[in-house]
Amino acid sequence: MRMTEELRKALRVRVDYTNMTDKYLGDKGISQKMLDAAKPLAKAAHAYVAQNRGKDELFMGWTELPYNQDEIVADILATAKEVRRKFDNFVVLGIGGSALGPSMAFTALCHLHYNDLPKSKRRGPRFFVEDNVDPVRMKELLDVIDVTKTCFNVISKSGATSETMTQYLIISDLLKKAGRDVKDHVIFTTDAARGNLVKISDELGGVKRYILPDGVGGRFSELCPVGLLPAAVLGIDIKLLLKGAAYMDKLCKSADLKKNPALLTATLQYISMQNGKNIGVLMPYSDNLRYVSDWYAQLWAESLGKNVTLDGTPCNVGQTPVKALGVTDQHSQVQLYTEGPYDKVVTFLSVGSYKEKSPIPHGCESIPDVSFLGGHTMEELIQAENKATAYALTKAGRLNYTILLPEINAFTLGQLLFLFEMQTAYAGAMFNINTFNQPGVEAGKKATFALLGKPGYEGQRAELDNAASDPAYIV
Ligand code: PA5
Repeated sequence: MRMTEELRKALRVRVDYTNMTDKYLGDKGISQKMLDAAKPLAKAAHAYVAQNRGKDELFMGWTELPYNQDEIVADILATAKEVRRKFDNFVVLGIGGSALGPSMAFTALCHLHYNDLPKSKRRGPRFFVEDNVDPVRMKELLDVIDVTKTCFNVISKSGATSETMTQYLIISDLLKKAGRDVKDHVIFTTDAARGNLVKISDELGGVKRYILPDGVGGRFSELCPVGLLPAAVLGIDIKLLLKGAAYMDKLCKSADLKKNPALLTATLQYISMQNGKNIGVLMPYSDNLRYVSDWYAQLWAESLGKNVTLDGTPCNVGQTPVKALGVTDQHSQVQLYTEGPYDKVVTFLSVGSYKEKSPIPHGCESIPDVSFLGGHTMEELIQAENKATAYALTKAGRLNYTILLPEINAFTLGQLLFLFEMQTAYAGAMFNINTFNQPGVEAGKKATFALLGKPGYEGQRAELDNAASDPAYIV
């Protein structure tokens, strides 16, 4: 797609926050006075992010990914071509930030039944993201792939994540047993110099390796080789994805809430959280965007869920992300959102033009309850239901806003991802917390090491063994 300025504007992702305001929600809404009061903090957050962008030591290297990867992108495109030529299957082995981005881009930009399409109708090999150690899932993956025809992209910054390394041990054993050279079937995406995958690739010799840059944490890594390689293998236009991110970054240069969509959404969410809205629902009206909610849930939860500020003051901040899908969850969760506690902000992801319209044929003329649908399209129906749900929530005094993607493509997805990343960085700065660490995740990883007997964790193992459950509390 050749991007002209006109096309860029037509494809600009926009935020409509009408339904957050007191004009429509009365005393349940955000007033101009509240927005004005938050402006100095928003400006300071904007300045903090602008001053520290690109700094690896602060884990803010991700801000530069739209600009500093020309050589890497060229290399990835060449590798992806080879992978498509040689393999029937491409399997991502990773978890958390190393898996959610690839799943999200796959679902957003590929056919919804991609793996079921005949080879001639796919742009790449069959695609799987294995982000769990459910033994059934592993076994059943192996039932449907032939490891000798599969490329495994092992993604782990640390190379010490038990889940990913377990999967690696299983597939490398199977490849060896099948008489294959492991190095011909794996691509590692990992830290530049540290970590076990570096050691393993040195031992295997000649493994293709991509770098997860120092200043890029897992949940901010979709626009580096973590996400770009799987996307390129699928035939997704990764240059356009990065151009979309760069376009959103340009919009984020402004410190004016009316011009910077990410600063606006961060400020709206911050004010809402300060007013007890501790639940953030993300509700895309598109099956293609359904895993954006999973990706966003990690970004928002892991970044903002903190118990101490940067100056050491105890705090317990964060907003619980909830995943919903329009229209499906209108028939389950929306009752709660409309009439339950006033503790939520609902963010709709709306689509201006779906790639399919699916006309609804006329029929059942004697049954008006059904026949009125004929002559419309499914696109009209889903858009009407989106609008109707926003209207119903607003009538009930519930905070909601819409992020509109004119259409779903690599350019708009790139914008959306960068918007959410910047929103998270701004919101973290407003709370004055470390947005980019995850001590709570590390604690669980370490306890798992102890339980499975990793050397060096004996003390914690003893502690865990002593923490025997009390039968009095087991029903
Ligand atoms: O956001 C994060 O940092 C985590 O979700 C990690 O991505 C996840 O725990 C996997 O870690 P690693 O890449 O070291 O295997």
